[in-house]
Amino acid sequence: MELLQLILFILPAYIANAAPVILGGKTPIDLGQKMNDKKRILGKGKTIRGFIAGVLAGTVAGFFLSVYVAEFMTHAPFNDKIIISFFLSLGAMSGDAIGSFIKRRIGIESGNESLVTDQLLFLGVALLFSYPFYTGKVELQLVDVAVLAIVTFFLHVAFNRIAHAAKLKKVPW
Ligand code: CTP
Ligand code: MG
Repeated sequence: MELLQLILFILPAYIANAAPVILGGKTPIDLGQKMNDKKRILGKGKTIRGFIAGVLAGTVAGFFLSVYVAEFMTHAPFNDKIIISFFLSLGAMSGDAIGSFIKRRIGIESGNESLVTDQLLFLGVALLFSYPFYTGKVELQLVDVAVLAIVTFFLHVAFNRIAHAAKLKKVPW
């Protein structure tokens, strides 16, 4: 895929990942529970409302992209675009939560930075969840995944700094 197409394709996952910063709630997914290691299962940064808002925001973004942007998953039927957007978003939020689970297990406090889990796990799980629905209409090659990993890494760093500067996030990552 061309770079523009590639970024449009992954946009629902990006939007899902970003939405909770603004739309996140209070009740944590782990309900405050701890594991044997006396650390939280996921931590206070992963809320139920944030998770749902992320999945919805990414799916709604996918709907608007499907209606207005011809380059968005060009050859896929309309319904498939929505379904793929939903699974990209669900995968992004699940990967984000898995990342927190890993961070807590290796002793990184909520909100502290962890390069691979913060920036790339959400992408990997988003691709994994949505992959079964590509059905030959979305031609994502291995090289595209590599390009996405690199682009996502830098965009994630950039957007978090912007969100911090705009006082949406306490920390610049
Ligand atoms: N957020 C949320 N619910 C989610 C994911 C994120 O409410 N499922 C909100 C929280 O306010 C969170 C913010 O978005 O603090 C930023 O998300 P992120 O950087 O992914 O979480 P961290 O606070 O850094 O937590 P962790 O260390 O567990 O990654
Ligand atoms: Mg964080």
